[in-house]
Parts: sequence; structure tokens; C-alpha cells
Amino acid sequence: MNGDLVVVADTAELAARLADIIVNDAARAIAERGRFRIALAGGTTPHAAYALLTSEPRRDMTEWEKWDVYFSDERCVPPESEESNYRMAAQSLLQHVPIPAEHIHRMAGEEDPPAAAHRYADVLIRHVGDPPAFDTVLLGMGDDGHTASLFPGTDPLCDDALLVRAPYVEKLHTYRLTFTPRVINAAAHVVIAVSGLAKAPILYAVCEGPNDPVLHPIQIVNPLSGRLTWLADRDAAAEFR
Ligand code: 6PG
Repeated sequence: MNGDLVVVADTAELAARLADIIVNDAARAIAERGRFRIALAGGTTPHAAYALLTSEPRRDMTEWEKWDVYFSDERCVPPESEESNYRMAAQSLLQHVPIPAEHIHRMAGEEDPPAAAHRYADVLIRHVGDPPAFDTVLLGMGDDGHTASLFPGTDPLCDDALLVRAPYVEKLHTYRLTFTPRVINAAAHVVIAVSGLAKAPILYAVCEGPNDPVLHPIQIVNPLSGRLTWLADRDAAAEFR
């Protein structure tokens, strides 16, 4: 298995631990470089952690004006859609902390997917470098072994020159916008948060089973020089003895 597996008791502790990891990564980045560049994950797992960042004690433990916020993937929907990862992050975190709007870079889910992907890649190159040097990339994992919007069958191995892709996801009958492996694996710290018994079989399979990133795209996550933390609650880690 790549990286370190951290197992916590339940969803509440997973949220607290994820929030603490983010605060600590921010402190390190700001101390070293004066900025904290983070790519937020979508889905539901990180929501509670984001909310914890907006209240004491964590709220006052960071310098929000030094945060640069990006997204590791996005659904191809408008930002006000209930499906939007940006909307989830805005409602749970971004609307409640003093990060200047110009430091928040959402993926334009409402635009033509290939054009939106190309435009976001330009934003990354301009603001974060090529390959982008994120301090922290947050990811989740689906029960099919996808991460960000790298789904089985969308050829995650093609570590193309692109930094952001707009794959058509057959099973969802929709396009998505997603970081490519090149971006994810250039990060200083990748954190994959996994919660719930439904994820137990896939978590064990991707960590301990054969390496097959086409079947389980999350297996492409292997930071070149950064750290990888798998953060799981006890239910999700139930198949690890
Ligand atoms: C998305 C996410 C996706 C998510 C996993 C896990 O846009 O849905 O980027 O990769 O992290 O599907 O989702 P849950 O946290 O809801 O289980």
C-alpha cells in the first residue's frame, strides 16, 4: 500500500482529524512560504471537516487571507446546483471564513467541459505552477475505487500533459472535470478520507489487492515526493485485521 493508513473511531473523529490535518498543513505552508495552496475534495465525506474549520478552536488557528483554494474535481453543473462540489464547500466553509474571493478558484462546471478543463489548467499553471505545487490535495474515494473524477474505464493511467481533464463518465451519463494524476502526485500532501462500512471492501482491495488503476483509478495516487495519508473511520477499515 502507498502511504500511511490512519484509522479513527467514527465519522465525528474522522472530521476532527481531517480538519486538524488541514490546519497543520496550512501552518507548515504559511510558515515556509507565506501561502497555503489547497485543493478541496467534493462528495459528502469532507463536509463535516470543512464545517469544523469555521468555528473555535480551529477558526483562529490559521491565517485565512493566506489560503488559495482550488478544487480537485467538479461536476458539470452550475455552482448553485445541489450537485456542485463548489456549492458544498461554499456552504460548509468558504462563506463562513475570511478568504478573499479572488483567492478561491472554482472549476466552471456550468461551461463547456473541455473548455472549462483547459481554462482551469491555465489557472493552475498561472497560480500554482506546472506541475502545480499544491501543499494539500484532498480526495475521497467512491465504492468503485474512483477518486476525484477519475472513474473506472476513463483511462486514469494516461498521465497526459493536461493538468485537468473533462472525461465523459459512462456510469453517470455525464461529463466531469478532474485533476489528472500529474497534478495529484505533485502535491506535498495528499489526504484521502474514507468513511463507512460500504467502503470497507474497496478500501482493502485498493490498499492490499493487485495494482490495477484502470479498474481502481485511486491506485494512481502515489505522490512523487510528497506524503500520502489514508484517513479512514473504523467502519471503512473493517477489513484490515
Ligand atoms: C465527487 C468527488 C468524488 C468523491 C467520492 C466519495 O465529485 O463526488 O470528488 O471523488 O470524493 O465519490 O464521495 P463521498 O465522500 O460522498 O463518499
